[in-house]
Amino acid sequence: MAESEGNQGEEWKEYKLQKDTELRFEVEQNASVIVKLKDGLAEIFGTELIRNHNYTFTSGAKIALFTWHGCTVNLRGKTEVAYVSKETPMITYLNTHAALEQMRQQAESEGTRGPRVMVVGPTDVGKSTLCKILLTYGVRVGRRPTFVDIDVGQGSISVPSTVGLLQVERPADVEEGFALLAPLVYHFGANTPGDNLKLYKILTSRLAEVFNQKCKNDQKSDVSGCVINTCGWVKGDGYECIKHAAKAFEVDVIIVLDQERLYNELVRDMPSFVKVVLQPKSGGVVERSQNFRRTARDERIREYFYGFRNKLYPHSFQVRFADVDIFKIGAPAVPNSCLPLGMTPEDNQTKLVPVQPSLELAHHLLSVSLAKDRRDDLINTNVAGFVCITNVDMERRQFTVLSPAPRPLPRRYLLLSDVQFMDIK
Ligand SMILES: Nc1ncnc2c1ncn2[C@@H]1O[C@H](COP(=O)(O)OP(=O)(O)OP(=O)(O)O)[C@@H](O)[C@H]1O
Ligand SMILES: [Mg+2]
Repeated sequence: MAESEGNQGEEWKEYKLQKDTELRFEVEQNASVIVKLKDGLAEIFGTELIRNHNYTFTSGAKIALFTWHGCTVNLRGKTEVAYVSKETPMITYLNTHAALEQMRQQAESEGTRGPRVMVVGPTDVGKSTLCKILLTYGVRVGRRPTFVDIDVGQGSISVPSTVGLLQVERPADVEEGFALLAPLVYHFGANTPGDNLKLYKILTSRLAEVFNQKCKNDQKSDVSGCVINTCGWVKGDGYECIKHAAKAFEVDVIIVLDQERLYNELVRDMPSFVKVVLQPKSGGVVERSQNFRRTARDERIREYFYGFRNKLYPHSFQVRFADVDIFKIGAPAVPNSCLPLGMTPEDNQTKLVPVQPSLELAHHLLSVSLAKDRRDDLINTNVAGFVCITNVDMERRQFTVLSPAPRPLPRRYLLLSDVQFMDIK
């Protein structure tokens, strides 16, 4: 491993990579780094680089640029570290892709469905990145796999506190990730499944149901299968959530990153037709602090409103209290003796509790439900998008909201999330 200190200069630095090696680098906080492929072929997390194109990565980004055939790259900007490594999991990941592709071909010839894959493991092992790589490889061979993200903390389909599903039609953009065209998103309302396990399981099942429906109507999606990203909570109730998702989606393959214990538990608990495989994490994945995670969540919300690198202008407008109905899913836990007869504490977790306008709502994120009617099932209905309450005027009885779309709100039912966002630059 040829390691170098962080790059501090504004000069281009050249790296010559042998075949099957990767250049790993981490961008310094509040800095940016430009990478340019000069010669040969290279890819970043599954997406091929265009020669002589400047790719920019910003504060804290951790990147591995891999080459199957050898290449020359130039890099400029401040990095914490930048080094070439021969120990890359990419070959394992490519083999996984090849095996999935074989399953798709078999599905095609036998008229059955394609592979449903779930990626699990503790936090910071590269789960989301592996999902991105497998999906991108799938698209690159002409498939149309579905990305299912049930990580309510660090998911990449929508804002934190949601789960969602996205049909992937193009490789992930090297800088921006997957194009988020028409994702299907559901409101959960918190950053960790533990805040409402019942709701979390309901939503996982709902996504599976929607995906099955899609497969029925679209053979290409059916054959292409799906890749499910999960959160890093793998013990106790977290493990129960993984088992639940595996069952709901009827997964064929579970890839366990980096944890033998979890692997053994799943081998023990999964039916024999589920292939459970243990794979290493990349040496390039480093642990991120709680603070970094919080900032990453804020960044995702900012990106939702302001677009990637502030390309969009969100709208800010008033909404009268009378024009909306706000609900929170799940009532606070109460002692069993206080519950109405026949009701269990679990029933409380799916209760729709009306929320009265108050100053406390300021800065909260709200999902705009697509439900048309109060009789619609608000839990199982997907959302149109999100607004953030930036001000509450109790006298005039109106909120000011930040919204990606102009007024009016498309529907009147809003679901309150625990997640807050401060709209300051
Ligand atoms: N092979 C790699 N080389 C270098 N960096 C990598 C590699 N794979 C992933 N990373 C980086 O490591 C960080 C963590 O990766 P990723 O988000 O995929 O992990 P995760 O297991 O999904 O984490 P979480 O538990 O937070 O969801 C990211 O910044 C990602 O860019
Ligand atoms: Mg992740």
